[in-house]
Amino acid sequence: MIKSGQVAIVTGASSGIGLAFCYALAKRGVNLVLVARSEDRLLALSQELERDYAISSYVVPLDLSRSDAVFEIRRVVQSFKLSVDVIINNAGFDDFGDFLETPWTDHASMLQAMLICPTRLCYEFLPDMKKKQAGCIINVGSIVGLFTLKLFKRSRPRVLYGPIKSYLIDYTRSLSRRYRADGIVCQALCPGLTWSEFHQRSGESDIYKRIPKRFWLTSEAVVDQSLAALSREKTVVVTGWYNQLLNQLHRRIFLG
Ligand SMILES: NC(=O)c1ccc[n+]([C@@H]2O[C@H](COP(=O)([O-])OP(=O)(O)OC[C@H]3O[C@@H](n4cnc5c(N)ncnc54)[C@H](OP(=O)(O)O)[C@@H]3O)[C@@H](O)[C@H]2O)c1
Repeated sequence: MIKSGQVAIVTGASSGIGLAFCYALAKRGVNLVLVARSEDRLLALSQELERDYAISSYVVPLDLSRSDAVFEIRRVVQSFKLSVDVIINNAGFDDFGDFLETPWTDHASMLQAMLICPTRLCYEFLPDMKKKQAGCIINVGSIVGLFTLKLFKRSRPRVLYGPIKSYLIDYTRSLSRRYRADGIVCQALCPGLTWSEFHQRSGESDIYKRIPKRFWLTSEAVVDQSLAALSREKTVVVTGWYNQLLNQLHRRIFLG
C-alpha cells in the first residue's frame, strides 16, 4: 500500500502526529512534501530526513488558512514534477475560545484550514490517483468527531472543533465509498488524547495533570496504528483500547 519511492503530502508536519507520520513514511522510503507554518522546523526536519533515510523532501512553509494554500501546494508539486500517491491531511488546532467572543475572522481561518483545505487537497490530487488506480488519503479527525453527544464536560466548551472533525470523518467515508473501486484507500484517523503540542497551543496544559497517563498515546503509537490499519483498508480508525471502548459504548448507548 505504502511503498518506497512514493510521494506523500503531510500537512502539519512540524510537530506531533504530523511529525510522527513524516518519520514513519521516511523510514519506508517515501518522499515527502512537508507543509506547516514553521519554516525553520520544516527545514531542519527536511535535512534530517534526507540525511538519515535517503529520501527527497520539499518544504512548503504555508498557513493553510490562506484561501490560496492548496494552489501553493500544487505549484510546488508541479514545479518538482511530482506525482502524489499519499495525502495526510493532519494540520489542526482547537477552537480559539468562546464562540461569540472570538472574532469571526478566527472562525473563518479555522474552517478554511481544517475543513476547506483538506477537502480541496483531496479534490486536487484525486484525479492523478484515479489515473494511477492507486493512492492513499488519511484525514486526521478525532474521537470527538464520532460522538454525537459529548461525554465529557470541558472547562472550555468547543463549538466548531467537533463538527469540523465529524465532517472530516463523513467526508472520508464518502470518498472511500466513491473511490475504493479506483484503488484509492481512504482513512479517517480518530485519535483520542495524544502527546503533542495540541493542548499547550489551546491553552489547556493542565489537562496533562487532570487525565492519567494511561489514557494518553504517543504520536508515534497513533501513527503506527494508522499505518497498520491502512493495510487492512479500515475506513474509520480509532486509536487506543480506551478510545475504542468509549466509541463502542457511545455507539451502543446513543446510536442503538
Ligand atoms: N493531540 C491530541 O490529543 C489530538 C486528539 C485528536 C485529534 N488530534 C488531531 O491531530 C492533528 C494533529 O495535531 P497534533 O496533536 O499533532 O497537534 P500539534 O502538535 O499542535 O500539531 C499541529 C500541526 O498543525 C500545524 N498547523 C496548525 N495550524 C496550521 C495552519 N494554519 N497552517 C499550517 N499548519 C498548521 C502545526 O504547525 P505550525 O504551527 O508550524 O503551522 C503543527 O505541525 C490535528 O488535526 C488535531 O485536531 C489531536
